[in-house]
Amino acid sequence: MIKLDNVVATYTTQRGHVNAVDGVDLEIPDSMILGIAGESGCGKSTLMKVIYGDTGFPLDLSAGSVNYGFDNDRGQPVTSKNIQKEWFKRISYIPQSSMSSLNPVVRIRHQFTDYPATSKNKAETLEQVRTFIQKLGLPPEAIDAYPHQLSGGMRQRIMVAMATFQQPEIILADEPTTALDVVVQKDILMLLMELQKEMKNTIIFVSHDMGVHYQLTDRMMIMYAAKAVEYADTADIFREPLHPYTLMLTNSLPTIGDDRARAGLPGSPPSLWEPPVGCRFAPRCPLATDLCRTVEPQLAQHRPGRFSACHYAESVPQLKETIGHAPRLSDVARDPAKLFADVESALKLDEALELATKVEEPAR
Ligand SMILES: Nc1ncnc2c1ncn2[C@@H]1O[C@H](COP(=O)(O)OP(=O)(O)O)[C@@H](O)[C@H]1O
Ligand code: SF4
Ligand SMILES: [Mg+2]
Repeated sequence: MIKLDNVVATYTTQRGHVNAVDGVDLEIPDSMILGIAGESGCGKSTLMKVIYGDTGFPLDLSAGSVNYGFDNDRGQPVTSKNIQKEWFKRISYIPQSSMSSLNPVVRIRHQFTDYPATSKNKAETLEQVRTFIQKLGLPPEAIDAYPHQLSGGMRQRIMVAMATFQQPEIILADEPTTALDVVVQKDILMLLMELQKEMKNTIIFVSHDMGVHYQLTDRMMIMYAAKAVEYADTADIFREPLHPYTLMLTNSLPTIGDDRARAGLPGSPPSLWEPPVGCRFAPRCPLATDLCRTVEPQLAQHRPGRFSACHYAESVPQLKETIGHAPRLSDVARDPAKLFADVESALKLDEALELATKVEEPAR
């Protein structure tokens, strides 16, 4: 279990300090796919950096802690302070763009064998890499190529291979397919799902595409303005959200065959420099009262396993009735084989999703 305890992550800028993650408490059980969603700038990537232990100027873990639920070789509990020694071995990170992470002047095989902590015997490691990337649908010769000689999809497959080669317990994926075309996206996501089924790692997955979250994740955390506002099983998030913001996000997802236009998300998130007093969502919330504008709601358990930071969490299901029907996603089988195996249906699904799922422009 990964445990985030009141995590506050702060950027130091010329203008001063800004909290991009502001008091996140979260317990993530092992071997699950956790999805993180929320509009651009709400702190998703910052939270991923904190969980990876990749802080350093200008980013600082200014309060709180992350515990990963396992000990290191010396028998000490691994926390955000010493997780760096476990990179690749027990925790790995798949970035949005392979171009920024693969060294352009180094052949793929050296990027693997120069890994920290791979087996000392390079020839043996190389053979293992060759076999492994073949299993991941890449030609074994790919390891002799330079990054630019491979297609974007192949490079991202290489990133997935690097992140999973040593079978780490935790894999972080921050919009891992945003830069790729639709068909390749589906392939890579399916590959990740298959590997997760086999290796039983915990995957923390950030995407701006609610449709992908629906298909891929077991639980979801919804972020708004540096805070966690809802945390629950993905099925519950879509069926009956307990936070108005989640409702607005999920409501933007069309159902296949339903071509009625959906309202986008009206308004925009508050500035993190001067967040509103009380609930940060109040300026956009149809349920907001004076209580909301004065007292900040805390993330609390309203039903077993269902957390929401809303004073009126139990009124949200009624709100759903008034602002429109929820997506009938039960119509869509949540079976990756059905959704992804057949490229044509994947394309249709994507056309349908393209209408309204883009809750944010992906950060470049
Ligand atoms: N290097 C940085 N310096 C200062 N502020 C930053 C930096 N990186 C991100 N931020 C700010 O932190 C907030 C959260 O950013 P980020 O975690 O990238 O959000 P997301 O991934 O959800 O789009 C944003 O308001 C962004 O402007
Ligand atoms: S606390 Fe109030 S303003 Fe915030 S989401 Fe709930 S109802 Fe809306
Ligand atoms: Mg981001």
